Amino acid sequence: MANDLTDDLPANRYFRDPLPRREFPKGGMPARDAYELIHLGLKVDGQPSMNLASFVTTWMEPEADALILEARATNHIDHEEYPVAEHIEEICARMLADLWNAPDIDRSVGVATIGSSEAIMLGLLAHKFSWRNRRKAAGLPADRPNVVFGAETHIVWDKFARYFDVEMRKIPMRADHYVMHPDDVEAQIDENTIAVGAVLGTTFIGENDPISEINDLLVRIKAEKGWDIPLHVDGASGGFIAPFAHPEEVWDFRLEQVKSINASGHKYGMVYPGIGWLVFRDREDLPEDLVFEVNYLGGAQPTFTFNFSRASAMVQAQYYLFVRLGFSGYKAIVGNMMANAKYLNEKLEATGRFEILNPGLAEPVVTFRLKEGAAFDEYHLADRLRMNGWIVPAYTLPPNAEDVRILRVVVRNDFSRDKADMLLVNIAEACEYLDEANLPPTPPKHQGHEKQRRRC
Ligand SMILES: Cc1ncc(COP(=O)(O)O)c(C=O)c1O
Repeated sequence: MANDLTDDLPANRYFRDPLPRREFPKGGMPARDAYELIHLGLKVDGQPSMNLASFVTTWMEPEADALILEARATNHIDHEEYPVAEHIEEICARMLADLWNAPDIDRSVGVATIGSSEAIMLGLLAHKFSWRNRRKAAGLPADRPNVVFGAETHIVWDKFARYFDVEMRKIPMRADHYVMHPDDVEAQIDENTIAVGAVLGTTFIGENDPISEINDLLVRIKAEKGWDIPLHVDGASGGFIAPFAHPEEVWDFRLEQVKSINASGHKYGMVYPGIGWLVFRDREDLPEDLVFEVNYLGGAQPTFTFNFSRASAMVQAQYYLFVRLGFSGYKAIVGNMMANAKYLNEKLEATGRFEILNPGLAEPVVTFRLKEGAAFDEYHLADRLRMNGWIVPAYTLPPNAEDVRILRVVVRNDFSRDKADMLLVNIAEACEYLDEANLPPTPPKHQGHEKQRRRC
């Protein structure tokens, strides 16, 4: 239809027709309307700052926004054209090697990824290759690799095992112990173990696996049996918390068998979504056959990532934060987040309704469940909080603790004390309502985010 004068009006004819949803659109539409309609649609989603389920950063300073805007059209992989942008990635990786106490930061090597998922897969792939190279050099079979980790890990560990054809030896949780136990690790490892994974800040309850004890176990096994099994630390969230909140804790490259560490820059690295980090203790831990040289962008460019083209924006934003905050700045902000998490913990406990699952607060994440005898369940509470816009996930723990239902609040840098108080008021109101509501237990098909997904 030809443009008519009413096209200049707000809520014009484009608001009357559905946006194209299936076939590729035959023609276009004015920029203002395309923007407005997509923008309004997205408004139906939750508000990122009230999404307490997510670890991912929802607020950055305007100066960071400006840098992100400037670097969004820079293709980061094009090292020949953008050597400064690429150099900044190297600098950040070296700074992280330093933060995580690599013995020689000039021998460490690291890479920026899209997030911890890519970083973990690349790290484990490197360990798989190293294991295979060692086995072949010794004339031993190299066709049955396995990887050992706990049920408290993120799904990306299972993905790695399946995508890269490695036997997954996943240690179940113990009924009353929600992190790995070194004895369970010892029972699973053998000469075909490419790596053991341990988590600093578990996805499920925000606690740390006993990394130092697992390292001791691997050091002993190396001496006794000659199996040199690397330990990969998944510091997706904890990698940017522990150095500032718990400097006394030894979990990083100070431990002999810790050969690689990942962290999500977009979680407590405090950058918007799209950045993760993988750092190897020593460049020897990254087998050469995983690094490709390409010349089609001009010049020789080594690449070691699953993706090729990506905007440089989030790498630059990460460097901005490193130089803007420095150690003292991160320490101060992490300290504030920890204080707010502790406050929330204490207030929730004081209601007498909840049991806190991670009172030690390895990171600013509050996990809690209803005490026995409550008139409603965690899913009811999560649902009710949604009415006030809060996204607080309710979920069950993995086997063998699947009967434990919990709620989780991730405290980020945009979670102020006032926000904590508002949440607490809404939790109290929700509980009062639910006490009287006499609801049946939530059936499995209505648990979790299924309802949300169906709506979409
Ligand atoms: C412990 C852990 N590992 C890995 C991941 C995956 O990280 P990303 O979302 O950065 O890919 C997460 C995400 O929540 C996590 O908590």
